[in-house]
Amino acid sequence: MKFYLINGSNRKKFNTAQLLDAVAEGITDEIEKQEKQAEVEIIDLYNINYKGCKSCLHCKKIDGKYYGTCPIKDDLHTLLPKLWKSDAIVFGSPIYFGNVTGQMRSFLERLIFPKFVYGKETLAKKKPTAFIYTMNVTKEFSDEQYTQSVYSTIERFIEYTFGKPYSYKAYDTYQFKDYSLYEHYIFDVDAKKKQKEEQFPKDLEEAYNIGVQLVHDALKKRIG
Ligand SMILES: Cc1cc2nc3c(=O)[nH]c(=O)nc-3n(C[C@H](O)[C@H](O)[C@H](O)COP(=O)(O)O)c2cc1C
Repeated sequence: MKFYLINGSNRKKFNTAQLLDAVAEGITDEIEKQEKQAEVEIIDLYNINYKGCKSCLHCKKIDGKYYGTCPIKDDLHTLLPKLWKSDAIVFGSPIYFGNVTGQMRSFLERLIFPKFVYGKETLAKKKPTAFIYTMNVTKEFSDEQYTQSVYSTIERFIEYTFGKPYSYKAYDTYQFKDYSLYEHYIFDVDAKKKQKEEQFPKDLEEAYNIGVQLVHDALKKRIG
Protein backbone atom coordinates (compact mmCIF):
# COMPACT_ATOMS: atom_id res chain seq x y z
CA MET A 1 0.00 0.00 0.00
CA LYS A 2 1.09 3.53 -0.62
CA PHE A 3 0.09 6.61 1.37
CA TYR A 4 0.93 10.12 0.19
CA LEU A 5 1.03 13.17 2.45
CA ILE A 6 1.07 16.53 0.69
CA ASN A 7 2.58 19.50 2.55
CA GLY A 8 1.26 22.83 1.27
CA SER A 9 3.52 24.84 3.60
CA ASN A 10 7.09 25.81 2.87
CA ARG A 11 8.03 25.37 6.53
CA LYS A 12 9.30 21.86 7.08
CA LYS A 13 9.25 21.90 10.90
CA PHE A 14 6.23 24.03 11.68
CA ASN A 15 2.54 23.45 12.29
CA THR A 16 1.38 21.80 9.07
CA ALA A 17 4.51 19.67 8.74
CA GLN A 18 4.28 18.51 12.35
CA LEU A 19 0.64 17.51 11.91
CA LEU A 20 1.48 15.60 8.74
CA ASP A 21 4.34 13.88 10.57
CA ALA A 22 1.82 12.84 13.24
CA VAL A 23 -0.48 11.42 10.54
CA ALA A 24 2.51 9.53 9.11
CA GLU A 25 3.30 8.12 12.54
CA GLY A 26 -0.32 7.00 12.97
CA ILE A 27 -0.22 5.27 9.59
CA THR A 28 3.12 3.58 10.25
CA ASP A 29 2.15 2.37 13.73
CA GLU A 30 -1.18 1.00 12.58
CA ILE A 31 0.32 -0.71 9.53
CA GLU A 32 2.81 -2.42 11.83
CA LYS A 33 0.02 -3.38 14.23
CA GLN A 34 -1.99 -4.87 11.38
CA GLU A 35 1.16 -6.66 10.14
CA LYS A 36 0.85 -5.14 6.69
CA GLN A 37 3.33 -3.45 4.40
CA ALA A 38 3.01 0.17 3.38
CA GLU A 39 5.09 3.09 2.25
CA VAL A 40 4.42 6.62 3.44
CA GLU A 41 5.79 9.48 1.37
CA ILE A 42 5.64 13.17 2.20
CA ILE A 43 5.64 15.53 -0.79
CA ASP A 44 6.74 19.09 -0.01
CA LEU A 45 5.00 21.19 -2.64
CA TYR A 46 7.48 24.05 -2.18
CA ASN A 47 10.33 21.70 -3.16
CA ILE A 48 8.97 20.82 -6.57
CA ASN A 49 8.41 22.82 -9.75
CA TYR A 50 4.97 23.06 -11.30
CA LYS A 51 2.24 25.50 -12.19
CA GLY A 52 -1.54 25.28 -11.95
CA CYS A 53 -3.82 23.94 -14.68
CA LYS A 54 -3.31 25.74 -18.02
CA SER A 55 -6.75 24.85 -19.36
CA CYS A 56 -5.27 23.18 -22.45
CA LEU A 57 -8.18 20.70 -22.08
CA HIS A 58 -6.16 17.77 -23.47
CA CYS A 59 -7.40 15.77 -20.47
CA LYS A 60 -10.97 16.01 -21.82
CA LYS A 61 -10.27 15.46 -25.55
CA ILE A 62 -12.30 12.47 -26.79
CA ASP A 63 -9.89 9.74 -27.97
CA GLY A 64 -7.01 12.14 -27.24
CA LYS A 65 -3.54 10.94 -26.27
CA TYR A 66 -3.81 12.62 -22.86
CA TYR A 67 -7.45 11.84 -22.05
CA GLY A 68 -7.85 11.58 -18.25
CA THR A 69 -4.30 12.65 -17.60
CA CYS A 70 -2.15 15.79 -17.83
CA PRO A 71 0.32 16.52 -20.65
CA ILE A 72 2.34 19.19 -18.81
CA LYS A 73 5.96 18.02 -18.47
CA ASP A 74 6.99 19.38 -15.10
CA ASP A 75 7.63 17.79 -11.70
CA LEU A 76 4.00 16.70 -11.41
CA HIS A 77 4.21 14.70 -14.62
CA THR A 78 5.45 11.53 -12.95
CA LEU A 79 3.96 12.28 -9.55
CA LEU A 80 0.28 12.67 -10.52
CA PRO A 81 -0.14 9.10 -11.86
CA LYS A 82 1.39 7.78 -8.62
CA LEU A 83 -1.09 9.81 -6.59
CA TRP A 84 -4.03 8.67 -8.69
CA LYS A 85 -2.90 5.06 -8.18
CA SER A 86 -2.15 5.42 -4.45
CA ASP A 87 -4.20 3.99 -1.57
CA ALA A 88 -4.73 7.21 0.39
CA ILE A 89 -3.83 10.91 0.20
CA VAL A 90 -3.58 13.42 3.05
CA PHE A 91 -3.49 17.12 2.21
CA GLY A 92 -2.09 19.66 4.68
CA SER A 93 -2.15 23.40 4.20
CA PRO A 94 -1.90 26.62 6.16
CA ILE A 95 -4.62 29.18 5.53
CA TYR A 96 -3.23 32.12 3.54
CA PHE A 97 -5.58 35.07 3.08
CA GLY A 98 -8.60 32.97 3.90
CA ASN A 99 -7.76 30.05 1.61
CA VAL A 100 -5.31 27.17 1.31
CA THR A 101 -1.90 28.22 -0.04
CA GLY A 102 -1.43 29.08 -3.70
CA GLN A 103 0.88 26.06 -4.04
CA MET A 104 -1.88 23.79 -2.73
CA ARG A 105 -4.54 25.30 -4.97
CA SER A 106 -2.35 24.96 -8.09
CA PHE A 107 -1.56 21.40 -7.09
CA LEU A 108 -5.25 20.52 -6.57
CA GLU A 109 -6.12 21.90 -10.01
CA ARG A 110 -3.58 19.57 -11.58
CA LEU A 111 -4.57 16.57 -9.43
CA ILE A 112 -8.34 16.88 -9.80
CA PHE A 113 -9.14 18.45 -13.17
CA PRO A 114 -7.78 15.61 -15.39
CA LYS A 115 -10.15 13.22 -13.59
CA PHE A 116 -13.08 15.62 -13.63
CA VAL A 117 -15.81 14.87 -16.16
CA TYR A 118 -18.51 17.48 -16.72
CA GLY A 119 -21.84 15.97 -15.71
CA LYS A 120 -20.52 12.50 -14.93
CA GLU A 121 -18.63 10.54 -12.31
CA THR A 122 -14.92 11.08 -11.79
CA LEU A 123 -12.35 9.01 -13.71
CA ALA A 124 -10.26 8.71 -10.53
CA LYS A 125 -9.82 5.66 -8.34
CA LYS A 126 -11.69 6.31 -5.08
CA LYS A 127 -9.57 6.28 -1.92
CA PRO A 128 -9.52 7.53 1.67
CA THR A 129 -8.37 11.15 2.00
CA ALA A 130 -8.02 13.79 4.68
CA PHE A 131 -7.48 17.55 4.68
CA ILE A 132 -5.66 19.20 7.56
CA TYR A 133 -5.69 22.99 7.80
CA THR A 134 -3.64 25.20 10.11
CA MET A 135 -4.36 28.86 10.78
CA ASN A 136 -3.78 31.84 13.02
CA VAL A 137 -7.42 32.56 13.71
CA THR A 138 -9.50 31.03 16.47
CA LYS A 139 -12.21 28.43 15.91
CA GLU A 140 -14.91 31.06 16.43
CA PHE A 141 -13.46 33.38 13.80
CA SER A 142 -12.85 30.50 11.40
CA ASP A 143 -16.40 29.15 11.74
CA GLU A 144 -17.83 32.58 11.07
CA GLN A 145 -15.57 33.60 8.21
CA TYR A 146 -14.30 30.54 6.39
CA THR A 147 -16.39 27.42 6.91
CA GLN A 148 -18.89 27.65 4.10
CA SER A 149 -16.73 29.16 1.44
CA VAL A 150 -13.30 27.58 1.69
CA TYR A 151 -13.41 24.19 3.37
CA SER A 152 -16.65 23.10 1.77
CA THR A 153 -15.60 24.09 -1.76
CA ILE A 154 -12.28 22.29 -1.59
CA GLU A 155 -13.73 19.27 0.13
CA ARG A 156 -16.60 19.04 -2.35
CA PHE A 157 -14.12 18.64 -5.21
CA ILE A 158 -12.06 16.11 -3.24
CA GLU A 159 -15.24 14.20 -2.41
CA TYR A 160 -16.32 14.13 -6.06
CA THR A 161 -12.89 12.85 -7.09
CA PHE A 162 -11.79 10.45 -4.36
CA GLY A 163 -14.58 10.27 -1.76
CA LYS A 164 -15.40 12.39 1.29
CA PRO A 165 -12.25 13.51 3.11
CA TYR A 166 -11.70 13.61 6.85
CA SER A 167 -11.34 17.25 7.78
CA TYR A 168 -9.29 18.66 10.65
CA LYS A 169 -8.52 22.26 11.54
CA ALA A 170 -5.76 23.35 13.90
CA TYR A 171 -6.65 26.88 15.05
CA ASP A 172 -4.70 29.68 16.65
CA THR A 173 -1.33 28.20 15.71
CA TYR A 174 2.04 29.52 16.79
CA GLN A 175 3.31 31.47 13.78
CA PHE A 176 6.63 33.03 14.87
CA LYS A 177 9.43 31.20 16.63
CA ASP A 178 9.93 34.28 18.82
CA TYR A 179 7.05 36.78 18.82
CA SER A 180 9.29 39.52 20.27
CA LEU A 181 11.33 39.70 17.06
CA TYR A 182 8.49 40.45 14.63
CA GLU A 183 6.07 43.33 14.23
CA HIS A 184 2.51 42.58 15.32
CA TYR A 185 -0.21 44.36 17.35
CA ILE A 186 -2.95 41.78 17.78
CA PHE A 187 -1.46 38.61 19.17
CA ASP A 188 -1.64 37.85 22.88
CA VAL A 189 1.68 36.03 23.13
CA ASP A 190 0.86 34.33 26.43
CA ALA A 191 -2.42 33.04 25.02
CA LYS A 192 -0.58 31.82 21.90
CA LYS A 193 1.99 30.06 24.09
CA LYS A 194 -0.79 28.42 26.09
CA GLN A 195 -2.49 27.29 22.91
CA LYS A 196 0.80 25.82 21.66
CA GLU A 197 1.46 23.97 24.91
CA GLU A 198 -2.08 22.80 25.64
CA GLN A 199 -4.04 22.59 22.40
CA PHE A 200 -1.41 21.77 19.77
CA PRO A 201 -0.48 18.41 21.40
CA LYS A 202 -4.20 17.52 21.13
CA ASP A 203 -4.15 18.53 17.47
CA LEU A 204 -1.17 16.21 16.97
CA GLU A 205 -3.07 13.40 18.66
CA GLU A 206 -6.08 13.97 16.40
CA ALA A 207 -3.77 13.94 13.37
CA TYR A 208 -2.24 10.66 14.57
CA ASN A 209 -5.75 9.19 14.92
CA ILE A 210 -6.60 10.25 11.37
CA GLY A 211 -3.53 8.28 10.24
CA VAL A 212 -4.79 5.20 12.12
CA GLN A 213 -8.28 5.62 10.67
CA LEU A 214 -6.94 5.97 7.13
CA VAL A 215 -5.18 2.62 7.45
CA HIS A 216 -8.42 0.95 8.57
CA ASP A 217 -10.32 2.58 5.70
CA ALA A 218 -7.66 1.71 3.13
CA LEU A 219 -7.57 -1.93 4.27
CA LYS A 220 -11.35 -2.19 4.14
CA LYS A 221 -11.53 -0.08 0.97
CA ARG A 222 -14.00 2.08 2.88
CA ILE A 223 -14.35 5.46 1.22
CA GLY A 224 -15.87 8.64 2.64
C1 LIG B 1 1.05 34.93 3.49
C2 LIG B 1 0.35 34.48 4.74
C3 LIG B 1 -1.02 34.68 4.84
C4 LIG B 1 -1.71 34.22 5.95
N1 LIG B 1 -3.08 34.40 6.02
C5 LIG B 1 -3.77 33.91 7.07
C6 LIG B 1 -5.20 34.04 7.12
O1 LIG B 1 -5.83 34.60 6.26
N2 LIG B 1 -5.84 33.51 8.20
C7 LIG B 1 -5.16 32.86 9.20
O2 LIG B 1 -5.81 32.39 10.13
N3 LIG B 1 -3.82 32.71 9.16
C8 LIG B 1 -3.11 33.22 8.13
N4 LIG B 1 -1.75 33.06 8.08
C9 LIG B 1 -1.06 32.31 9.18
C10 LIG B 1 -0.86 30.85 8.86
O3 LIG B 1 -2.01 30.25 8.32
C11 LIG B 1 -0.52 30.07 10.13
O4 LIG B 1 0.57 30.65 10.78
C12 LIG B 1 -0.23 28.61 9.78
O5 LIG B 1 -0.35 27.78 10.91
C13 LIG B 1 1.15 28.46 9.17
O6 LIG B 1 1.41 27.11 8.89
P1 LIG B 1 2.90 26.53 8.99
O7 LIG B 1 3.34 26.81 10.40
O8 LIG B 1 2.76 25.12 8.70
O9 LIG B 1 3.70 27.25 7.96
C14 LIG B 1 -1.02 33.55 7.00
C15 LIG B 1 0.38 33.38 6.88
C16 LIG B 1 1.05 33.84 5.78
C17 LIG B 1 2.55 33.63 5.67
